Amino acid sequence: MLPARTDAELDAMRDAGRVVAQTLAAVRAAAVPGVRLRDLDDLAQTCIREAGATSSFLGYKPAWAPTAYNGALCLSPNEVVVHGRPSGQRLKDGDLLSIDCGAVVDGWNGDAAITVQVGSHGSADDARLVTATEEALAAGIAAAVPGATLIDVAQAIDAVARRYGYAHLPDHGGHGIGRSMHEPPFVPNRPHAGLDRVRLHAGSTLAIEPMLLAGGERYRHKKDGWAVVTADGRRAAHVEHTVAVTDDGPVVLTLP
Ligand code: MF3
Ligand code: CO
Repeated sequence: MLPARTDAELDAMRDAGRVVAQTLAAVRAAAVPGVRLRDLDDLAQTCIREAGATSSFLGYKPAWAPTAYNGALCLSPNEVVVHGRPSGQRLKDGDLLSIDCGAVVDGWNGDAAITVQVGSHGSADDARLVTATEEALAAGIAAAVPGATLIDVAQAIDAVARRYGYAHLPDHGGHGIGRSMHEPPFVPNRPHAGLDRVRLHAGSTLAIEPMLLAGGERYRHKKDGWAVVTADGRRAAHVEHTVAVTDDGPVVLTLP
């Protein structure tokens, strides 16, 4: 059974979520051609600090990662799907950039991501990919109601991906969230056996994050061991919200 957060705990998570949303808005505005990924990360670190919060990404070291994480954002351009690290790389007009941010306030986490087209020459294909991924997230959120199971969430996300003809990034998905950024359960973006056993109830909190691929689903890791890159070099989009399941319906906690 997933932990049931109290109203006071959800308020605390909303405070963390607000910092994440405000940071993402600032980084979105700053993500223009010529800017280095590292500059965007510096901006995010300043935003998070000035809001009185701390970054959940900075120094994070999951078991599978070779090194502790070196930034407050994951910045994943073009064929990088997720977990791109801040670097000296400069954004170019027409890039497609996933920006993922996590913050902690009073011990509670918020985690969200957006995908943006950089500059004024973004392609219609990229715009369609972003629209599909945002629709998939909205559908997954709408399915997160008391009594539903994770299969309902996965089916809702997958139905949108199928309708648009996009692939999922295999082996990746969302997660429970609360006092830690990553808590059980794993929240897959497509249905598989057993998911119907994980039931949602009022007070459940999830990070839902579709990652859709324009091309095939094969991927590899960059040499840094973090960044996930499509094998065919085609582009990806990734969006995420932290969501509370309530008796009044799903509530997005990562809003400004
Ligand atoms: N926010 C990512 C996720 O959605 C986690 C990034 S891990 C980090 O689960 F170490 F890169 F920050
Ligand atoms: Co997440």
